[in-house]
Amino acid sequence: MGIEKNNGLISKIVESKSKKDAVILVHNYQRGEVQDIADFVGDSLRLSQEAARLSCRMVVFCGVKFMAESAKILSPEKTVLLPKEEAGCPMADMVTVEELRELKNRYPDAKVVCYVNTNADVKAECDVCCTSSNAVKVIQNIDADKIIFVPDKNLANYVARFTHKEIIPWDGYCYVHERIRPEDIKKIKELHPDGVIIVHPECRSEVIDLADEVLSTGGMVKFAKKSNAQKIIIGTEEGLIYRLKKENPDKTFYTAGPAKMCRNMKITTLEDVYLALERGRYKIEIEEDIQKRAKRALDRMLEYV
Ligand code: 13P
Ligand code: SF4
Repeated sequence: MGIEKNNGLISKIVESKSKKDAVILVHNYQRGEVQDIADFVGDSLRLSQEAARLSCRMVVFCGVKFMAESAKILSPEKTVLLPKEEAGCPMADMVTVEELRELKNRYPDAKVVCYVNTNADVKAECDVCCTSSNAVKVIQNIDADKIIFVPDKNLANYVARFTHKEIIPWDGYCYVHERIRPEDIKKIKELHPDGVIIVHPECRSEVIDLADEVLSTGGMVKFAKKSNAQKIIIGTEEGLIYRLKKENPDKTFYTAGPAKMCRNMKITTLEDVYLALERGRYKIEIEEDIQKRAKRALDRMLEYV
Protein backbone atom coordinates (compact mmCIF):
# COMPACT_ATOMS: atom_id res chain seq x y z
CA MET A 1 0.00 0.00 0.00
CA GLY A 2 1.37 3.46 -0.89
CA ILE A 3 2.57 5.83 1.82
CA GLU A 4 -0.02 8.43 0.74
CA LYS A 5 -2.88 5.98 1.06
CA ASN A 6 -1.55 4.96 4.48
CA ASN A 7 -1.29 8.59 5.57
CA GLY A 8 -4.87 9.23 4.46
CA LEU A 9 -6.08 6.22 6.42
CA ILE A 10 -4.08 7.18 9.50
CA SER A 11 -5.71 10.64 9.60
CA LYS A 12 -9.14 9.04 9.21
CA ILE A 13 -8.38 6.57 12.02
CA VAL A 14 -7.21 9.36 14.35
CA GLU A 15 -10.37 11.38 13.63
CA SER A 16 -12.72 8.43 14.02
CA LYS A 17 -10.98 7.30 17.20
CA SER A 18 -11.55 10.61 18.95
CA LYS A 19 -15.17 10.82 17.71
CA LYS A 20 -15.89 7.36 19.14
CA ASP A 21 -13.84 7.77 22.35
CA ALA A 22 -11.83 4.71 21.36
CA VAL A 23 -8.41 3.39 22.30
CA ILE A 24 -6.38 1.13 20.01
CA LEU A 25 -4.54 -1.76 21.70
CA VAL A 26 -2.05 -3.62 19.52
CA HIS A 27 -0.13 -6.84 20.18
CA ASN A 28 3.62 -6.96 19.54
CA TYR A 29 3.19 -9.41 16.61
CA GLN A 30 0.93 -7.16 14.52
CA ARG A 31 2.01 -5.59 11.22
CA GLY A 32 4.39 -2.64 11.63
CA GLU A 33 1.95 -0.06 10.24
CA VAL A 34 -0.71 -1.22 12.71
CA GLN A 35 1.76 -1.03 15.63
CA ASP A 36 2.49 2.55 14.53
CA ILE A 37 -1.10 3.75 15.07
CA ALA A 38 -1.49 2.10 18.49
CA ASP A 39 -2.22 3.86 21.76
CA PHE A 40 -0.53 0.90 23.47
CA VAL A 41 1.59 -1.87 21.97
CA GLY A 42 2.39 -4.77 24.25
CA ASP A 43 2.28 -8.38 25.30
CA SER A 44 -0.86 -10.14 26.51
CA LEU A 45 -0.34 -9.10 30.12
CA ARG A 46 0.31 -5.42 29.43
CA LEU A 47 -2.67 -5.23 27.09
CA SER A 48 -5.04 -6.87 29.56
CA GLN A 49 -3.83 -4.49 32.28
CA GLU A 50 -4.47 -1.52 29.98
CA ALA A 51 -7.91 -2.85 29.11
CA ALA A 52 -8.78 -3.04 32.82
CA ARG A 53 -7.44 0.47 33.54
CA LEU A 54 -8.80 2.44 30.57
CA SER A 55 -11.79 4.75 30.94
CA CYS A 56 -12.70 5.04 27.24
CA ARG A 57 -16.02 3.82 25.78
CA MET A 58 -14.52 1.67 23.04
CA VAL A 59 -11.45 -0.56 22.61
CA VAL A 60 -10.24 -1.65 19.18
CA PHE A 61 -8.10 -4.73 19.75
CA CYS A 62 -5.58 -5.54 17.04
CA GLY A 63 -4.48 -9.03 17.95
CA VAL A 64 -6.32 -12.33 18.11
CA LYS A 65 -9.73 -13.19 19.53
CA PHE A 66 -8.71 -14.43 22.99
CA MET A 67 -6.97 -11.09 23.61
CA ALA A 68 -10.02 -9.03 22.64
CA GLU A 69 -12.16 -11.37 24.76
CA SER A 70 -9.89 -10.78 27.76
CA ALA A 71 -10.40 -7.03 27.34
CA LYS A 72 -14.18 -7.54 27.23
CA ILE A 73 -14.11 -9.87 30.26
CA LEU A 74 -12.21 -7.28 32.28
CA SER A 75 -14.29 -4.33 31.05
CA PRO A 76 -17.74 -5.66 30.10
CA GLU A 77 -19.21 -2.15 30.01
CA LYS A 78 -16.96 -1.17 27.06
CA THR A 79 -17.50 -1.92 23.42
CA VAL A 80 -14.58 -4.14 22.39
CA LEU A 81 -13.96 -4.60 18.68
CA LEU A 82 -11.82 -7.18 16.89
CA PRO A 83 -11.29 -5.70 13.39
CA LYS A 84 -10.92 -9.13 11.72
CA GLU A 85 -13.54 -11.57 12.93
CA GLU A 86 -11.55 -14.63 11.85
CA ALA A 87 -8.35 -13.69 13.76
CA GLY A 88 -8.25 -16.62 16.17
CA CYS A 89 -5.43 -18.46 17.93
CA PRO A 90 -5.20 -22.11 16.82
CA MET A 91 -3.66 -23.05 20.17
CA ALA A 92 -6.61 -21.56 22.09
CA ASP A 93 -8.93 -23.77 20.02
CA MET A 94 -7.06 -26.94 21.09
CA VAL A 95 -9.06 -27.22 24.33
CA THR A 96 -12.83 -27.21 24.75
CA VAL A 97 -14.98 -26.91 27.88
CA GLU A 98 -16.16 -30.54 27.60
CA GLU A 99 -12.62 -31.90 27.28
CA LEU A 100 -11.40 -29.82 30.19
CA ARG A 101 -14.33 -30.91 32.40
CA GLU A 102 -13.44 -34.51 31.69
CA LEU A 103 -9.86 -33.94 32.81
CA LYS A 104 -11.03 -32.08 35.92
CA ASN A 105 -13.19 -35.09 36.82
CA ARG A 106 -10.11 -37.30 36.58
CA TYR A 107 -8.16 -35.01 38.94
CA PRO A 108 -10.76 -33.63 41.38
CA ASP A 109 -8.12 -32.33 43.81
CA ALA A 110 -6.21 -30.35 41.16
CA LYS A 111 -6.55 -26.62 40.53
CA VAL A 112 -6.74 -25.40 36.95
CA VAL A 113 -4.44 -22.74 35.52
CA CYS A 114 -5.20 -21.56 32.03
CA TYR A 115 -2.86 -19.69 29.77
CA VAL A 116 -4.45 -16.45 28.59
CA ASN A 117 -4.44 -18.07 25.12
CA THR A 118 -7.79 -19.78 25.79
CA ASN A 119 -11.34 -18.99 24.71
CA ALA A 120 -13.61 -17.23 27.23
CA ASP A 121 -15.74 -20.31 27.98
CA VAL A 122 -12.60 -22.31 28.87
CA LYS A 123 -11.29 -19.47 31.07
CA ALA A 124 -14.59 -19.62 32.95
CA GLU A 125 -13.76 -23.24 33.97
CA CYS A 126 -10.38 -22.32 35.47
CA ASP A 127 -9.16 -21.14 38.87
CA VAL A 128 -6.45 -18.74 37.71
CA CYS A 129 -5.28 -17.42 34.38
CA CYS A 130 -1.67 -16.63 33.48
CA THR A 131 0.33 -15.11 30.64
CA SER A 132 3.81 -15.97 29.45
CA SER A 133 5.24 -13.22 31.66
CA ASN A 134 3.71 -14.38 34.94
CA ALA A 135 3.10 -18.13 34.53
CA VAL A 136 5.93 -19.09 36.91
CA LYS A 137 4.70 -16.67 39.61
CA VAL A 138 1.13 -17.92 39.27
CA ILE A 139 2.19 -21.56 39.62
CA GLN A 140 4.36 -20.77 42.64
CA ASN A 141 1.60 -18.75 44.35
CA ILE A 142 -1.41 -20.94 43.68
CA ASP A 143 -2.61 -22.82 46.71
CA ALA A 144 -2.47 -26.39 45.32
CA ASP A 145 0.07 -29.20 44.88
CA LYS A 146 -1.54 -30.55 41.73
CA ILE A 147 -2.19 -28.24 38.79
CA ILE A 148 -3.90 -28.87 35.47
CA PHE A 149 -2.31 -26.49 32.95
CA VAL A 150 -4.07 -25.70 29.65
CA PRO A 151 -3.55 -25.54 26.72
CA ASP A 152 0.20 -25.09 26.06
CA LYS A 153 2.30 -28.16 26.89
CA ASN A 154 5.53 -26.24 26.25
CA LEU A 155 4.68 -23.48 28.70
CA ALA A 156 3.51 -26.16 31.17
CA ASN A 157 6.84 -27.96 30.89
CA TYR A 158 8.69 -24.68 31.26
CA VAL A 159 6.90 -23.70 34.49
CA ALA A 160 7.42 -27.22 35.84
CA ARG A 161 11.14 -26.37 35.99
CA PHE A 162 10.43 -23.86 38.77
CA THR A 163 8.23 -25.90 41.12
CA HIS A 164 7.93 -29.24 42.88
CA LYS A 165 4.18 -29.16 42.36
CA GLU A 166 2.70 -31.75 40.03
CA ILE A 167 1.82 -30.17 36.67
CA ILE A 168 -0.67 -31.99 34.46
CA PRO A 169 -0.17 -30.48 30.99
CA TRP A 170 -2.74 -30.31 28.21
CA ASP A 171 -1.43 -31.49 24.85
CA GLY A 172 -1.71 -28.14 23.02
CA TYR A 173 0.99 -26.08 21.37
CA CYS A 174 1.59 -23.02 19.21
CA TYR A 175 2.33 -24.04 15.62
CA VAL A 176 4.51 -20.94 15.16
CA HIS A 177 6.83 -21.57 18.11
CA GLU A 178 6.88 -25.34 17.52
CA ARG A 179 8.54 -24.64 14.18
CA ILE A 180 11.62 -23.16 15.87
CA ARG A 181 14.09 -26.03 16.08
CA PRO A 182 17.22 -26.50 18.22
CA GLU A 183 19.24 -26.77 14.97
CA ASP A 184 18.09 -23.24 14.04
CA ILE A 185 19.43 -21.89 17.30
CA LYS A 186 22.73 -23.77 17.01
CA LYS A 187 23.28 -22.58 13.43
CA ILE A 188 22.67 -18.90 14.10
CA LYS A 189 24.76 -19.07 17.28
CA GLU A 190 27.64 -20.50 15.23
CA LEU A 191 27.38 -17.54 12.84
CA HIS A 192 27.13 -15.02 15.71
CA PRO A 193 28.82 -16.50 18.78
CA ASP A 194 28.53 -13.14 20.56
CA GLY A 195 24.74 -13.06 20.00
CA VAL A 196 22.46 -13.41 23.03
CA ILE A 197 19.61 -15.89 22.56
CA ILE A 198 16.17 -14.95 23.89
CA VAL A 199 13.20 -17.23 23.29
CA HIS A 200 9.49 -17.34 24.14
CA PRO A 201 8.34 -19.99 26.65
CA GLU A 202 5.97 -21.40 23.98
CA CYS A 203 9.10 -22.90 22.35
CA ARG A 204 9.92 -26.59 22.78
CA SER A 205 12.02 -27.65 25.76
CA GLU A 206 15.06 -28.45 23.57
CA VAL A 207 15.01 -24.85 22.29
CA ILE A 208 14.55 -23.41 25.78
CA ASP A 209 17.60 -25.41 26.93
CA LEU A 210 19.75 -23.45 24.45
CA ALA A 211 18.47 -19.99 25.38
CA ASP A 212 20.15 -17.33 27.51
CA GLU A 213 16.78 -15.88 28.51
CA VAL A 214 13.17 -17.11 28.29
CA LEU A 215 10.81 -14.15 28.04
CA SER A 216 7.36 -12.97 27.05
CA THR A 217 7.29 -10.60 24.08
CA GLY A 218 7.08 -7.67 26.51
CA GLY A 219 10.04 -9.12 28.45
CA MET A 220 12.00 -9.27 25.18
CA VAL A 221 11.30 -5.58 24.51
CA LYS A 222 12.60 -4.64 27.98
CA PHE A 223 15.61 -6.96 27.67
CA ALA A 224 16.65 -5.53 24.28
CA LYS A 225 16.57 -2.02 25.70
CA LYS A 226 18.66 -2.66 28.80
CA SER A 227 21.08 -5.31 27.51
CA ASN A 228 24.61 -4.35 26.46
CA ALA A 229 24.56 -7.07 23.79
CA GLN A 230 24.85 -5.71 20.25
CA LYS A 231 23.47 -8.84 18.63
CA ILE A 232 20.27 -10.47 19.81
CA ILE A 233 18.84 -13.73 18.44
CA ILE A 234 15.05 -13.86 18.75
CA GLY A 235 13.07 -17.08 19.15
CA THR A 236 9.52 -15.92 18.61
CA GLU A 237 7.07 -14.69 15.95
CA GLU A 238 8.81 -12.33 13.55
CA GLY A 239 6.47 -9.31 14.08
CA LEU A 240 8.27 -8.43 17.30
CA ILE A 241 11.44 -7.61 15.36
CA TYR A 242 9.77 -4.54 13.82
CA ARG A 243 9.36 -3.03 17.29
CA LEU A 244 12.79 -4.15 18.49
CA LYS A 245 14.52 -2.52 15.50
CA LYS A 246 12.49 0.68 15.82
CA GLU A 247 13.32 1.05 19.52
CA ASN A 248 16.97 -0.11 19.26
CA PRO A 249 18.38 1.15 15.95
CA ASP A 250 21.96 0.58 17.16
CA LYS A 251 21.45 -3.19 17.77
CA THR A 252 21.11 -6.07 15.33
CA PHE A 253 18.35 -8.67 15.65
CA TYR A 254 18.36 -12.12 14.06
CA THR A 255 15.53 -14.62 13.79
CA ALA A 256 16.25 -18.16 14.98
CA GLY A 257 16.13 -19.87 11.57
CA PRO A 258 13.77 -18.67 8.84
CA ALA A 259 11.30 -16.07 10.14
CA LYS A 260 8.17 -17.67 11.65
CA MET A 261 4.88 -15.93 11.04
CA CYS A 262 1.53 -16.28 12.80
CA ARG A 263 -1.03 -15.91 10.00
CA ASN A 264 -3.81 -14.68 12.24
CA MET A 265 -1.64 -12.00 13.79
CA LYS A 266 -0.99 -10.53 10.35
CA ILE A 267 -4.47 -10.34 8.82
CA THR A 268 -5.48 -7.04 10.42
CA THR A 269 -4.73 -4.06 8.17
CA LEU A 270 -5.05 -0.30 8.69
CA GLU A 271 -8.16 -0.38 6.55
CA ASP A 272 -9.71 -3.02 8.85
CA VAL A 273 -8.97 -0.78 11.85
CA TYR A 274 -10.69 2.15 10.16
CA LEU A 275 -13.71 0.05 9.17
CA ALA A 276 -13.90 -1.39 12.69
CA LEU A 277 -14.16 2.13 14.11
CA GLU A 278 -16.62 3.40 11.52
CA ARG A 279 -18.90 0.37 11.46
CA GLY A 280 -18.49 -0.80 15.05
CA ARG A 281 -17.32 -4.23 13.97
CA TYR A 282 -16.71 -6.94 15.06
CA LYS A 283 -18.20 -6.66 18.52
CA ILE A 284 -17.02 -9.13 21.14
CA GLU A 285 -20.04 -10.50 23.00
CA ILE A 286 -19.69 -12.85 25.98
CA GLU A 287 -22.53 -14.42 27.95
CA GLU A 288 -22.80 -12.81 31.38
CA ASP A 289 -22.26 -16.00 33.36
CA ILE A 290 -19.13 -16.90 31.36
CA GLN A 291 -17.83 -13.33 31.59
CA LYS A 292 -18.19 -13.30 35.39
CA ARG A 293 -16.50 -16.66 35.93
CA ALA A 294 -13.70 -15.89 33.45
CA LYS A 295 -13.15 -12.52 35.13
CA ARG A 296 -12.48 -14.27 38.45
CA ALA A 297 -9.63 -16.21 36.82
CA LEU A 298 -8.19 -13.06 35.23
CA ASP A 299 -8.58 -10.97 38.40
CA ARG A 300 -6.73 -13.62 40.44
CA MET A 301 -3.89 -13.46 37.92
CA LEU A 302 -3.72 -9.66 38.15
CA GLU A 303 -3.43 -10.01 41.96
CA TYR A 304 -0.23 -12.04 41.49
CA VAL A 305 1.63 -9.49 39.30
P1 13P B 1 2.94 -12.69 24.82
O1 13P B 1 2.01 -12.58 25.96
O2 13P B 1 4.33 -13.02 25.25
O3 13P B 1 2.89 -11.45 24.00
O4 13P B 1 2.52 -13.91 23.91
C1 13P B 1 1.30 -13.99 23.24
C2 13P B 1 1.29 -15.01 22.20
O5 13P B 1 0.31 -15.27 21.57
C3 13P B 1 2.54 -15.71 21.96
O6 13P B 1 2.41 -16.54 20.88
FE1 SF4 C 1 -1.64 -18.33 18.95
FE2 SF4 C 1 0.88 -18.96 18.39
FE3 SF4 C 1 -0.33 -17.10 16.96
FE4 SF4 C 1 0.37 -16.64 19.51
S1 SF4 C 1 1.73 -16.99 17.79
S2 SF4 C 1 -1.58 -16.14 18.56
S3 SF4 C 1 0.01 -18.65 20.40
S4 SF4 C 1 -0.88 -19.28 17.08
